[in-house]
Amino acid sequence: MSTLSFLWEGLRHLGTTGTITRSSPALCRAAIDRIDWSAARTIVELGAGDGVITRHILERLHPDGKVIAFEVSEDLCDDMRAIGDPRLVVAQDSAENIRAWLDRIGADRADHIVSAVPFAALPPELGRRIVTAARDNLRPGGCYNQVHYSLKTRDYYAQAFGDVDARRVYLNLPPAWVLYCTR
Ligand SMILES: C[S@@+](CC[C@H](N)C(=O)[O-])C[C@H]1O[C@@H](n2cnc3c(N)ncnc32)[C@H](O)[C@@H]1O
Repeated sequence: MSTLSFLWEGLRHLGTTGTITRSSPALCRAAIDRIDWSAARTIVELGAGDGVITRHILERLHPDGKVIAFEVSEDLCDDMRAIGDPRLVVAQDSAENIRAWLDRIGADRADHIVSAVPFAALPPELGRRIVTAARDNLRPGGCYNQVHYSLKTRDYYAQAFGDVDARRVYLNLPPAWVLYCTR
């Protein structure tokens, strides 16, 4: 999707996209930081958009790995399907349904979860359900990395995971945060 179309998609559905720009390369790299790529086989991505972070994941993912990328917008899912990588499973579904999609690929748990779901723009009950589902379906020792533009919903992750380590990424418009948690 072109930058202009992405901006238009963001404006049309601001209540669910939470942004009009996609993550910069620096933010994408920070979002997948702290993943042990030598051992990771099952990555779950929440709020994948048109696949900007997904592409970075696929670059580093093991040839036998899988990434399940959740996205609610049909148009953005079509963009991800066009990536055409057999390791990518596009889940056109709400991120709270992680369990059902792990079952589809025969995975017990996710090794790591990367999220850019705009929780500050979503109803709190939905946000907390998604974060709880993420925690429950993450293997012990796995990391949960959350991209955000503010720290407004930091307590969602603190309640689910305990410690939250926040890092500012200035090379993004607007400057963003990545919050790192470990199960
Ligand atoms: C801030 S954008 C991030 C897009 C891309 N990952 C990036 O980093 O630029 C958030 C995305 O989350 C999606 N989203 C919103 N609610 C969702 C939900 N309940 N489940 C899955 N995705 C959702 C939106 O449609 C939007 O594409």
